[in-house]
Amino acid sequence: MNQNRFFHHRLETKQLTLAYDGAPVVQNLNLGIPTGKITVLVGANGCGKSTLLRGLARLLKPKSGMVYLDGKAIFQLNAKTVAKKLGMLPQSPTAPEGLTVQDLVAMGRYPYQNWLQQWSSEDEQKVKEALEITNMTELADRALDNLSGGQRQRAWIAMVLAQDTDLLLLDEPTTFLDLSHQVELLDLLYELHEQQGKTIVMILHDLNLSCRYADYLVAVQQGKIYTTGTPEQVMTEEMVRDVFNLECRIVPDPLADTPMCIPMGRKVKLSSSWGDKPPKTFS
Ligand SMILES: Nc1ncnc2c1ncn2[C@@H]1O[C@H](COP(=O)(O)OP(=O)(O)OP(=O)(O)O)[C@@H](O)[C@H]1O
Ligand SMILES: [Mg+2]
Repeated sequence: MNQNRFFHHRLETKQLTLAYDGAPVVQNLNLGIPTGKITVLVGANGCGKSTLLRGLARLLKPKSGMVYLDGKAIFQLNAKTVAKKLGMLPQSPTAPEGLTVQDLVAMGRYPYQNWLQQWSSEDEQKVKEALEITNMTELADRALDNLSGGQRQRAWIAMVLAQDTDLLLLDEPTTFLDLSHQVELLDLLYELHEQQGKTIVMILHDLNLSCRYADYLVAVQQGKIYTTGTPEQVMTEEMVRDVFNLECRIVPDPLADTPMCIPMGRKVKLSSSWGDKPPKTFS
């Protein structure tokens, strides 16, 4: 049973096809993003996850089909209207040389400014909060180019948080972060979702953290949805084999009880002990 039918969707796609120049990358895709939940997209390199996220964020015009935001075709809304509802962190964001962290985070307030309303105390406050929440206050005056990969990633996340949107789309937000910062960031996103009801859609490559944090998991295979559901429904040995071309065992995470994927690989497969002790399976 697809429980997603029962969720409310502020963001959804209907028969969405996305292409660059040649063949379609995402094909006839119907996906509803459950409002107020954490959705995680998983799939092999090059399967179209970033392309799909860019389509959802109105950064890529569909070849056919449509993305709907609050029931309206997203391309009929102007960019600022969308930017007040939806914040997007791309996979490899770029910024002008010499830009400071403070300036970058302030750019997150751009949708709220116009010729009538310039920089306000609310903008100031949101930037301050975003820097604090990401532990970037002390680095606020540093140039982005002079930061470590992980610090830079946190600066970009602060920018998206300063945008103060209900919907957050994050393409591999944990890239460059050490494990402790990965968990810290995912906890922060979880808290934003719990306390402020934010809807979060993110792409992650760590399947075990995906299962820990996702309410709704979407497995993408060659531009199509392979399956969707709870981590328990989606994270199966068959899915990992089909989507990632990887043999694995799925066991319960001893701390969280969510599915945990243990990759096999040739080294383990060839070792004699594997076949002797059938591993506990997830139930
Ligand atoms: N700007 C572009 N122009 C042309 N082709 C592109 C462009 N961006 C991506 N592609 C191609 O589209 C396909 C899907 O790419 P996409 O970036 O969506 O994959 P992905 O699932 O995010 O992969 P990864 O896990 O490596 O980030 C790939 O074959 C890629 O080469
Ligand atoms: Mg990608």
